[in-house]
Amino acid sequence: MDYFNYLRSFIKRDSVFIEDLESLSSGRDDIQPSVEPELGKFLGLVIRLTNAKKVLEIGSGVGYSALWLGEGVKITGGRVVTVDNHERTHKEVVKNITNAGLDNWVEKKLGNAEDIIETLGGDWDLIFQDAGKYLYPLLHNKIVDLTRTGGLIIADDTMFKMNPDVRKGLGDHMDKYNKMVFADSRLYSTILSVGHGVTISMKMGVE
Ligand SMILES: C[S@@+](CC[C@H](N)C(=O)[O-])C[C@H]1O[C@@H](n2cnc3c(N)ncnc32)[C@H](O)[C@@H]1O
Repeated sequence: MDYFNYLRSFIKRDSVFIEDLESLSSGRDDIQPSVEPELGKFLGLVIRLTNAKKVLEIGSGVGYSALWLGEGVKITGGRVVTVDNHERTHKEVVKNITNAGLDNWVEKKLGNAEDIIETLGGDWDLIFQDAGKYLYPLLHNKIVDLTRTGGLIIADDTMFKMNPDVRKGLGDHMDKYNKMVFADSRLYSTILSVGHGVTISMKMGVE
């Protein structure tokens, strides 16, 4: 068994619906990729660890990461709001969340994240960024504003800059994002080498 398969062999999925969605999505080229199971589990761990109740996801895709987030807030008594602007994808996330029995825990919103976040109140415990890469730097300040002090911002794919298989423009957006994050005195941040890289920031009390 190689390094990767050894690691993955420990990642038990939090529900059978997560496993099912992995099988159903595998090999599809008409949808954008979902997070790796390792990141799904990490999101679930963070929710439990921080007792996160208000969770916002930017970029639902077909709902794979939302299933992990939803299973997490089921434990903490919280709620997830997930946003996507692609109509067909949104229909799939609605179906997948209903099939998984998570309608009471996951609210699905259709629309541009940049518009929808203007309509949301603040004090989010956890904001997960996984939509268009151009959005990360664009939304950075607003996302920090929406996060409660002590809350977390987790951004996926942030090592794209160093991946030769990824289009240069996408890597440049992520590079710009990382530079903004690490220069931001409101945040305490690190990058984990999970999947395509995950930048994690905690919003500190002193700004
Ligand atoms: C990588 S996928 C999300 C995958 C999902 N988080 C998962 O792991 O299962 C990115 C999604 O962001 C959506 N998206 C891209 N730009 C957006 C925008 N401006 N507003 C809302 N959603 C957007 C796309 O339609 C796509 O479904």
